[in-house]
Amino acid sequence: MADRSIRIGGLTLKNPIIAASGCFGFGEEYNEFYDVARLGGVCTKGLTRRPREGNPPPRVFETPCGLLNSIGLQNPGVDAFIREELPMMKEMGLVVIANVWAECAEEYGEAVEILSRSAVDVIEINISCPNVPGQVIVGAQAQQAAEVVRRCRSLCDKPLWVKLPPTAQIDAAQAVEEQGADAICAVNTFRGLAIDIETGRPIFANTFAGLSGPAIRPLALQVVYQLAAAVEIPVIGIGGITSWQDAVEFIMAGAHAVQIGTANFIDPLASMKIVEGLQQFMEDRRLHSWEEIRGCAHEGSPL
Ligand SMILES: Cc1cc2nc3c(=O)[nH]c(=O)nc-3n(C[C@H](O)[C@H](O)[C@H](O)COP(=O)(O)O)c2cc1C
Repeated sequence: MADRSIRIGGLTLKNPIIAASGCFGFGEEYNEFYDVARLGGVCTKGLTRRPREGNPPPRVFETPCGLLNSIGLQNPGVDAFIREELPMMKEMGLVVIANVWAECAEEYGEAVEILSRSAVDVIEINISCPNVPGQVIVGAQAQQAAEVVRRCRSLCDKPLWVKLPPTAQIDAAQAVEEQGADAICAVNTFRGLAIDIETGRPIFANTFAGLSGPAIRPLALQVVYQLAAAVEIPVIGIGGITSWQDAVEFIMAGAHAVQIGTANFIDPLASMKIVEGLQQFMEDRRLHSWEEIRGCAHEGSPL
């Protein structure tokens, strides 16, 4: 009998498919299509210490094989999340991964400390959001990334995952590992731009936006391949995954698990279809566990 579960730090997930932050709400809407508890886990929308209204519209714009978004982290804040959304998520039987964003290390610490006293299963620190006016992406710099993770780690006993930007260098990933992260999630969206040729102005009020979807998949796969070789802790692959075959590619590149984002907008059943496709793949290949193929693309290949 194949063991479809995976272990990340001290946590066991029933399978390696996780709904990505910002693309699955708090799971409730998707639960109308299928039992969302069949996924390995669900990441919440990015949560901040206080509620945020997000960016003015337009917030999304389609590009060939991709989606540009500039949501700007609209969310109810950690307190309202714990009061109003988390009980529903736990009742649905979900492994809840709380995605957190803040403007500085202190504020990350505040939000993480509050969440670490709640029933969430994992805290995923997003140090890679490209859509906040005037904010640099701290995850791109090793020293800044380390400072945020050090602060959060000292305030939190729960599993701590760190979500890096696609531009993060190996040294940022290693710095995050050194500070006690349990896993690295890569990647967040790539910074992109679209211009309205009638007005000659950028489509988005914040000029730049985050590119996701199949357009970024080979780029994300390349990042995951390199990170998996550079750190000991598990890497969770994200970026343009729309099918079980895509998920297998990320596992072969070295990912322990994968997150599915934009594909959920194209087909609300996408994540569940990937769970089922992977199950069939395991049976067809007579795999006993994911370890048998994890990282196999690296064998004999110098980085
Ligand atoms: C509309 C939208 C909102 C997102 N919001 C968040 C967020 O709040 N926090 C976060 O860490 N990532 C956020 N992301 C990034 C996704 O979680 C994911 O990393 C990225 O979209 C790449 O995966 P994909 O190509 O499968 O969508 C968002 C993406 C989209 C498309």
